[in-house]
Amino acid sequence: MSVIFPRWMNSLPPVLAVGVVGGLTAAVGLFWYYATPKFWRVGYMPVQPGGGFNHQLHAGKLGMDCRYCHSKIEQSSEANIPSVHVCYGCHADNRLVQFTNATHKAKTDFVREAYVKDEPIAWNRVHKLPDYVRNFPHDIHIAAGVSCYSCHGQIMGMPIVYHAQPLSMSWCLDCHRDVQVNPQNHLVPKDMVTKLIAVENRLANPQEHAGEAAKLLENIKLVPPENCGACHY
Ligand code: HEC
Ligand code: HEC
Ligand code: HEC
Ligand code: HEC
Ligand code: HEC
Repeated sequence: MSVIFPRWMNSLPPVLAVGVVGGLTAAVGLFWYYATPKFWRVGYMPVQPGGGFNHQLHAGKLGMDCRYCHSKIEQSSEANIPSVHVCYGCHADNRLVQFTNATHKAKTDFVREAYVKDEPIAWNRVHKLPDYVRNFPHDIHIAAGVSCYSCHGQIMGMPIVYHAQPLSMSWCLDCHRDVQVNPQNHLVPKDMVTKLIAVENRLANPQEHAGEAAKLLENIKLVPPENCGACHY
């Protein structure tokens, strides 16, 4: 039989296969990298004890500052969740006028039950970075004038907390790269970081604050990192 195809072509199918598989992997990888992490967690809202802790009511309507409960956030990388003792300070028997309202009493019974049993309320974690990311530093971001709003959304309007931002790597880096170019898009005066309604209005019109760029940048101590070791072990 005459040789129609040269011998080297016998190796073509494997080469093609490797090429196709490699291409597919790259395509899936690229999709994974650029598309999914941005969206897979946004909207995540786990079921919470007592139907959820109402930030809209406590932080929005009653005007409690975030640091009343997340009290260690300026000193620590971690944002603490308040213990039931903090809740009990207001929700003890007969302390609030609302206590006489049967509906209110029933809605808050789980707080007093946890307090009496001396057990923490089993809140479900909403925001959680993978273990291969180093301790995320809340204190440093807040000192730099990055508001809770930029990373957690309008918590003051949330009856139940949900995941408002992707917290993906490209999302972190987008800000790290842009913050020194357009600080007014990402930073607010330090005394404003927990005033989320004012921050939302301000960040909706950043161009009005372009003149404050140099002043905002004064709060940044170091160049926001892009090297792998800053965020990974
Ligand atoms: C009266 C106490 C209290 C106040 C005030 C408060 N929080 Fe919370 N916060 C909680 C409790 C309790 C939880 C846990 C339940 C939950 O996740 O919904 C929580 C959860 C959160 C979470 C989600 C945590 C997770 O699991 O990822 C974020 C984000 C948050 N708070 C931000 C804020 C911000 C921003 C403010 C100020 C605008 C604020 N909180 C004010 C008590 C409070
Ligand atoms: C500074 C006082 C104060 C603290 C601290 C506080 N609350 Fe409240 N809470 C209130 C008041 C006041 C209301 C009723 C507001 C209303 O009905 O307008 C309320 C209402 C509630 C309700 C009923 C919500 C609804 O939809 O009607 C729940 C549940 C609740 N609180 C849970 C908690 C938990 C859990 C904590 C601790 C993480 C906590 N509260 C801390 C003052 C407080
Ligand atoms: C630059 C982004 C950023 C800012 C600003 C920020 N957070 Fe967070 N927050 C995160 C990330 C990321 C996580 C998850 C951390 C992890 O898994 O280690 C988180 C987690 C939390 C948690 C859950 C902690 C736990 O252990 O359950 C709370 C509560 C919280 N943040 C509250 C706040 C409050 C209040 C502010 C403003 C005073 C704030 N955050 C500002 C990014 C941010
Ligand atoms: C909205 C802007 C913004 C976002 C979003 C943001 N960062 Fe930052 N980050 C900053 C700024 C500004 C600094 C510099 C703070 C300073 O040095 O004063 C910084 C600094 C850091 C540092 C260095 C802290 C140190 O020790 O100096 C780490 C680590 C870091 N960010 C991790 C993250 C991670 C992880 C995410 C995503 C989950 C994230 N950041 C999202 C603005 C942001
Ligand atoms: C500013 C902080 C930050 C820096 C700098 C950073 N990463 Fe990440 N990286 C993250 C976060 C946060 C995640 C988790 C993303 C998620 O859960 O969606 C992540 C996830 C990853 C993943 C898992 C795949 C993915 O994209 O989710 C890889 C691989 C990775 N990083 C490699 C690197 C390498 C290599 C570098 C240096 C070129 C680097 N990272 C620099 C914050 C950072």
